[in-house]
Amino acid sequence: MQVGIDMGTVAGGQPAKLDIEELLATRLLVQGNSGSGKSHLLRRLLEQSAPWVQQVIIDPEGDFVTLADKYGHIVVDGDRSDAELIGIATRIRQHRVSCVFTLEGLDIEQQMRAAGIFLNGLFDAEREYWYPVLVVVDEAQMFAPSVGGDVSEDARKLSLGAMTNLMCRGRKRGLAGVIATQRLAKLAKNVAAEASNFLMGRTFLDIDMARAADLLGMDRRQAEMFRDLKRGNFVALGPALSRRPLPIVIGAVETSARSSSPKLMPLPEAPQDVEDLIFTPDPEEFNRPILRRTPPAPRPTTDILAELSKASPAASGDDISIQRAPAQPEMPAAEREERLAAVLSEILEDPQAAYRTDSVLYQEFLVRARMRRVTGPPMAMGEFRRRVAVARAGVDEETASSENWQTALTLSLRVSEDLQGVFLLMAKAAIRNEPCPSDLRIAKAYGTHSARRARRLLGYFEEQGLVVVHTDFSGKRIVAFPDLEAETLPGDPNATDDVDLKTAAE
Ligand SMILES: Nc1ncnc2c1ncn2[C@@H]1O[C@H](COP(=O)(O)OP(=O)(O)OP(=O)(O)O)[C@@H](O)[C@H]1O
Ligand SMILES: [Mg+2]
Repeated sequence: MQVGIDMGTVAGGQPAKLDIEELLATRLLVQGNSGSGKSHLLRRLLEQSAPWVQQVIIDPEGDFVTLADKYGHIVVDGDRSDAELIGIATRIRQHRVSCVFTLEGLDIEQQMRAAGIFLNGLFDAEREYWYPVLVVVDEAQMFAPSVGGDVSEDARKLSLGAMTNLMCRGRKRGLAGVIATQRLAKLAKNVAAEASNFLMGRTFLDIDMARAADLLGMDRRQAEMFRDLKRGNFVALGPALSRRPLPIVIGAVETSARSSSPKLMPLPEAPQDVEDLIFTPDPEEFNRPILRRTPPAPRPTTDILAELSKASPAASGDDISIQRAPAQPEMPAAEREERLAAVLSEILEDPQAAYRTDSVLYQEFLVRARMRRVTGPPMAMGEFRRRVAVARAGVDEETASSENWQTALTLSLRVSEDLQGVFLLMAKAAIRNEPCPSDLRIAKAYGTHSARRARRLLGYFEEQGLVVVHTDFSGKRIVAFPDLEAETLPGDPNATDDVDLKTAAE
């Protein structure tokens, strides 16, 4: 399917066409100094191609979130855990939903990390989801800098690696990079070199001009034409645009940028009492806490999931990129519960599951639940943790139905979610009058290999008044639960036989 979208006009008023299908295979680099109109150009490209192809925008300033209202992009905030970012990226590819990934409010290092993880998540999608996606990265020099800056080496490597994947190895996986930068000289060479299409805007500095000339295969004198370009004017070159350098003027856009260039405004008339006005504190000033800028709270994953499971605005024409499965009917509660329980035990059966964080397991759980076609709102993270805690404690039916176990469950709410599994493991041993679990066994229930941490956890429960820890004459440990009127049998804290050592050592 050949789709030529309209980017604006060429001299003489003819439309300037961009071949989207060709673009998917040959990628695009946009460069121009600040204010030359790159973000405007990207917006035009996104608006015009929205009905034809899935889009993901890496948006450092949150400028593109305005696409959401008109074109149905989902807005994903970058301030999330790694596992959440990977999970969301995976589902973006599965469900083929366009999204604006906004990094507004994060510091540069966090922006690089989040973008790197998210891009890699898109890149690592399963083969069956390698549908075409335009991946637009504004301010690409931030994510693929040519030299190291103030950020940590880790963050730089992560983000540069992801950008290199996108531009060098993304095509086969359906990812088509469209990157924009103010300064070519600041953009890593290998990332820039993979684009075969160029839109060059106003460029002042010789060093950028020289890089542009090299990339476009022009001689340096010819590249001088970039110096005098007006805002919104670009020179187009490449298989998706034009075989020869072609000056174009970018057309209007439908949505507006959240940030725009400052405009001069007449100053208000100066009042008489300026000094009074500025120096007189208002009474609340002294009570007000000193506020530092805090990034907006991230949206919970469940929100995003709910949004993802909604249908997007109807696609027009013979659009093939935005079809989705018909909504599934609700399933009976009992069946839903049965499937959820099956998914949960499937995940926890993996011997390595004990050493994965709850959020990684949770992502895995949500994906599998979807694969099993469990309908209805996804289980919340809190509820999931709770169930994992109970499952990890490994209670049998008889214990589970006992009154003491119900008390233990209530008591476990007094510790944070990540500690509940350990608490219940100990409580179970007490209720069933089993030997006290070893340090390694406790550590495993907490998802770690550290015996020291296990002992600290017991110390913490003791401080909370939940347990009393003591030792018998042979040095074996007993943990008593005053509220349950039960205690464990003596158990060797250093024992290794109650853990599967093979997995514990991995
Ligand atoms: N083709 C155009 N037609 C009308 N207005 C334009 C056009 N191109 C840019 N503008 C306006 O010019 C201003 C600067 O453009 P834009 O934000 O796209 O620049 P930029 O190259 O992305 O700059 P920066 O690198 O600083 O982000 C914006 O207010 C934008 O709306
Ligand atoms: Mg911009």
